[in-house]
Amino acid sequence: MRRPILAANWKMNKTAADAVSFAEKFLPSAGQQAAVDVVIAPPFTALDRLRGALGGSTVELAAQNVNAEPSGAHTGEISLSMLEEFGCRYVIVGHSERRAIYGESSAQVAAKAVAVQGAGLRPIVCVGETLEERDRGDTLAVVGQQLEESLAGVSGGELVIAYEPVWAIGTGRVATPEIAQEVHAFVREKLRGLYSEVADSVRIQYGGSVKPDNAADLMAQSDIDGALVGGASLEADSFSQLVSIVASRAEG
Ligand code: PGA
Repeated sequence: MRRPILAANWKMNKTAADAVSFAEKFLPSAGQQAAVDVVIAPPFTALDRLRGALGGSTVELAAQNVNAEPSGAHTGEISLSMLEEFGCRYVIVGHSERRAIYGESSAQVAAKAVAVQGAGLRPIVCVGETLEERDRGDTLAVVGQQLEESLAGVSGGELVIAYEPVWAIGTGRVATPEIAQEVHAFVREKLRGLYSEVADSVRIQYGGSVKPDNAADLMAQSDIDGALVGGASLEADSFSQLVSIVASRAEG
């Protein structure tokens, strides 16, 4: 069975001081997990202090983005060696906000994911359709193409996929477990084509308005191996409730 992975994507929220007070509230109840990978992706500016606050817990750090180049004239960007210095184990690449607001292409996402793996870190590669694409009946075609292009050159070994329907992100409109499972099963099938037997060990997270009151039904689906959570990860209480829900899936 795949080990579930629950990741907090804080986006552009929380100062370093906020991150430390989150950790102080969160760690007593959820800081030691045997069966679930718990990951937090804070803003870059909070990585250092959050790392210190998480010391001794099983929670791992992620970055929300990275530049694929090792160094150089890229004003405003951050490199993998800079992230490694702060103990990041994962990097989210291709989040729909990066794709939509900052025009990131799947080819760029693939270059980032390849670079992440090259540095010995694990990419969380995000894919997902817009509402318009879903209404046109194009969901599987869009997700399939995003996967093919965003995974070019990427190995199946240390890989996490996040399926995040754009219409469910930050909207309170979660995908039903059936809709999510349908796409996750499709993603798994695609991964089998790309990576043969390794595909069954790749974890596929669902993301988009995951909350403590809808998570259990999502986690009960056979191809949903965890969640990538925005809004509900900002409060220590709701994120620790999510940890318990995902952990009970692992144990059940
Ligand atoms: P949400 O965000 O949980 O606030 O919908 C999820 C994400 O964007 O990763």
